Amino acid sequence: MARRKVIAGNWKMNMTPSQAKAFIEELYPCVKGKHGCDIVVCVPAINIPAVVKATAGTCIKVGAQNVHFAKSGAFTGEISADMLVDAGVKYVVIGHSERRQYFAETDETVNARTKAALDAGLKAIICVGELLSEREQGITEEVVAKQTKLALLDVTEEQMKNVIIAYEPVWAIGTGKTATAEQADEVCGFIRSVIAKKYGKAIANATAIQYGGSMNAKNAAELLAMPNIDGGLIGGASLKAPDFTVIVEAAQ
Ligand code: PGA
Repeated sequence: MARRKVIAGNWKMNMTPSQAKAFIEELYPCVKGKHGCDIVVCVPAINIPAVVKATAGTCIKVGAQNVHFAKSGAFTGEISADMLVDAGVKYVVIGHSERRQYFAETDETVNARTKAALDAGLKAIICVGELLSEREQGITEEVVAKQTKLALLDVTEEQMKNVIIAYEPVWAIGTGKTATAEQADEVCGFIRSVIAKKYGKAIANATAIQYGGSMNAKNAAELLAMPNIDGGLIGGASLKAPDFTVIVEAAQ
């Protein structure tokens, strides 16, 4: 059976709550009825109430961009999985390379956040990907295997149905340099083999593995046609409703 594609926008630190509401009002009529893939917008935390309200009853699901690993407590500035769930969030991006680079995210904290998200019933979009220097050294597979295995430490077979892996080569993020469809498919396929080793073929074949990194209206169709690419995590192009719509259409 074909895996269902997941097209997720990662807004990063863009849009105010009012802009977010206006954006959803523009986007929804464009993607309405396009039920061939899951459509998600991962928005800044402060936009969650406005976006949950604006997407109520639509095919657009709401995601967050981070989650803390503790249930609650003295973690000033942080947001727990229970808070996200209660606010109507269904997905959460974990371990994005920008968080690894600028906010001291490690494989260990990625794993802790993943478990907290899954325990709360959220779908976790776990980001993995190599640096340009790592690709040049020929250690891409080693890097993504390590990131994937460590992120999934103590994640149960049952919980794997709520796991999505986003393969995002760091050199392709926000640079306009996309991995070729073949490069992206090869690594997504490799990640699937890493999952198969731990959880078996059936679970690996059922797990959605997205590509992210300068996916846009022009290159989405080619990337999404590849057998191992089950959707996209889209930054820049997710901030323009017409471009995001073209990507959603390419995933139908
Ligand atoms: P980009 O970002 O599409 O702007 O390259 C992708 C991401 O960081 O998730």
